[in-house]
Amino acid sequence: MGISSKLLGSLSILVLVFTVAHGDPPVPAVIIFGDSLVDVGNNYNLTTLVKANFPPYGRVFITHRPTGRFSNGKLATDFTADYLGFTSYPPSYLSQEAKGVNTLTGVNFASAASGYCDNTARLYGTISLTQQLNNYREYQNEVVSMVGRAKANAIFSGAIHLLSAGTSDFIQNYYINPLLVFSPDQFSDILMISYSTFIQPVLDMITNPGDNGFFETRRACCGTGRLETSMFCNSRSVTCTNATGYVFWDGFHPSEAANEVLAGNLLQQGFDLIY
Ligand SMILES: *[C@@H]1O[C@H](CO)[C@@H](O)[C@H](O)[C@H]1NC(C)=O
Ligand SMILES: *[C@@H]1O[C@H](CO)[C@@H](O)[C@H](O)[C@H]1NC(C)=O
Repeated sequence: MGISSKLLGSLSILVLVFTVAHGDPPVPAVIIFGDSLVDVGNNYNLTTLVKANFPPYGRVFITHRPTGRFSNGKLATDFTADYLGFTSYPPSYLSQEAKGVNTLTGVNFASAASGYCDNTARLYGTISLTQQLNNYREYQNEVVSMVGRAKANAIFSGAIHLLSAGTSDFIQNYYINPLLVFSPDQFSDILMISYSTFIQPVLDMITNPGDNGFFETRRACCGTGRLETSMFCNSRSVTCTNATGYVFWDGFHPSEAANEVLAGNLLQQGFDLIY
């Protein structure tokens, strides 16, 4: 890991950058980068093991179908888009939906198993953060040719840019049970800090489950509840019938119910940056 990725790693894992927030709707677009916590389908058609394009993923999503999201339903960023008043979610950059006017309110570049170390993505055949930024540039050019430079600049300068990273470096590279990560080990403290920043709200849910209506904080709904990522949550897995009381959907990814709580934290972080 190079110096620059260490610097990046020391930033908080969920970085919300609000810039201009005038007008109606409050922001023109939401643009998302990062890992499986925010991937809405970029990995869906990639040749990688790290994807969630099969049941029971997505079973309580609007369409009741797997979309590539690593949860039973919405991600925290979907709730964020809801709260901001958007009527659709930024489409995954590689999907058919990411075309023309659909992209003017934002696009999602995130890819599960990407992280601050580009190697993490390379290892799993997914889209590194560097490549996600290249895709963002390509997208910006498309928007400019669609609406002209002035309007495009207004969109990009007013948009919320959201990044979730650091968890994949940890999980996919080191396979550490998130529920056991309470004290730093020999692995990079920098990544640990990033990781803790995300995981803190989740840890809060685990220590005070009743506060948010959760009753199952140690076992995941899908799979046996330990150490799984998507590969161990599939249509043949033992799966709870109602994940509402579960913090974890699979062995690493939050349930829709937990994502809703995380979205509250996220919005708070974002507003703290503006005001
Ligand atoms: C995956 O590929 C199929 C077939 O080309 C396409 O219809 C679908 O939109 C793609 N899904 C995503 C999420 O990219
Ligand atoms: C799931 O469980 C929650 C309580 O944990 C309950 O409020 C909700 O109605 C249940 N949903 C279904 C579909 O049974």
